[in-house]
Amino acid sequence: MVTVYHDADADMAALDGKCVAVIGYGNQGHAQAQNLRDSGATVIVGNRQDEYRKSALADDFEVLPIRDAARRGDIVLMLIPDEVQPQVFARQVLSGLAEGDTLVFASGYNVAYGLVQGPECVDVVMVAPRMIGSAVRNLYRQGKGYPCLVAVGQNATGQALATALAVARGIGATRAAAFASSFEEEALMDLFAEQFLWAGIVRLCTLYYDMLVEAGCAPESVASELYLSGEMVEVAEAMIETGFFKQLDLHSHTSQYGQLSRGERVVGDGAQRVAAEIMEQIRSGQFAQEWTAEQQAGMPHLEGLKKTALTHPLNEVEQRTKRILGLG
Ligand code: NAI
Repeated sequence: MVTVYHDADADMAALDGKCVAVIGYGNQGHAQAQNLRDSGATVIVGNRQDEYRKSALADDFEVLPIRDAARRGDIVLMLIPDEVQPQVFARQVLSGLAEGDTLVFASGYNVAYGLVQGPECVDVVMVAPRMIGSAVRNLYRQGKGYPCLVAVGQNATGQALATALAVARGIGATRAAAFASSFEEEALMDLFAEQFLWAGIVRLCTLYYDMLVEAGCAPESVASELYLSGEMVEVAEAMIETGFFKQLDLHSHTSQYGQLSRGERVVGDGAQRVAAEIMEQIRSGQFAQEWTAEQQAGMPHLEGLKKTALTHPLNEVEQRTKRILGLG
């Protein structure tokens, strides 16, 4: 059984007298900085000269260049995109870290694949919200929590877990639950969801659309049926409320029979072999190498894939269907 931490297991005193430097003021940065400040922590923001800096200033934060914020901070939250972290860390953060500081990541990727390595004299922890940034802030303001994963990668002070839990509490996560994890586990769950689950869902959806339109169904009706009606969201909510399988009772018997009797054929042995292959590429670091090379080349493959996706007829049909449904 996984170890789980709640508010009662996390003592905000671990942040007493410490300065929390939030590096980056984007999706997670703006939410975590404000939540931590509202929880009583002393928070500064480190940001380059861009729109995000203006936004942090507008929210009444002291904003410093990243290098200076990392020097001032005792607890440094790396909340800039994963792709830029290795370079920014090496050039602007590393030299500012002092013995006993804590480096906090919101994702396992860079540490798991050795792309960022904190010096031995600092604690390295992960506090990874399983929630988008805007909701991290909104839920906090509503007095609600959300799940997060916490991990200790390096425990130089012996206090790494206490600090991670205080951060998790400060951002409002332990009102729900913080699950004990590792950088590697977080990276695996994240990447496997993206590369198997979401890749499959997106592919199945486009195949569903293409085949029905080919079969003569009205594109607008198919787009509505597929996702624009919002039924998918209702089903997802019912899975949370009622249960992943128990919500089947909300569907007709024909639907229940169809779903349960055909699934194994749709995602059969072939799909399982591919899933195993994808998982192995993630675990071995082969995917991380491929992705680093893609970034270094200026992301030509990603650009091409996005361009192709944006030429799919669904893009145009969705605009028309949204107007029909009064969705804008
Ligand atoms: P973001 O894309 O919103 O980050 C924007 C911030 O990064 C801005 O402050 C910008 O000034 C700064 N930035 C961008 N490029 C930079 C560069 N080259 N040099 C210096 N600063 C730069 O990032 P987001 O989505 O908040 O992700 C931050 C971390 O949180 C990542 O590790 C991510 O994996 C993790 N995370 C993100 C979630 C999300 O909802 N987006 C959910 C859970 C974790």
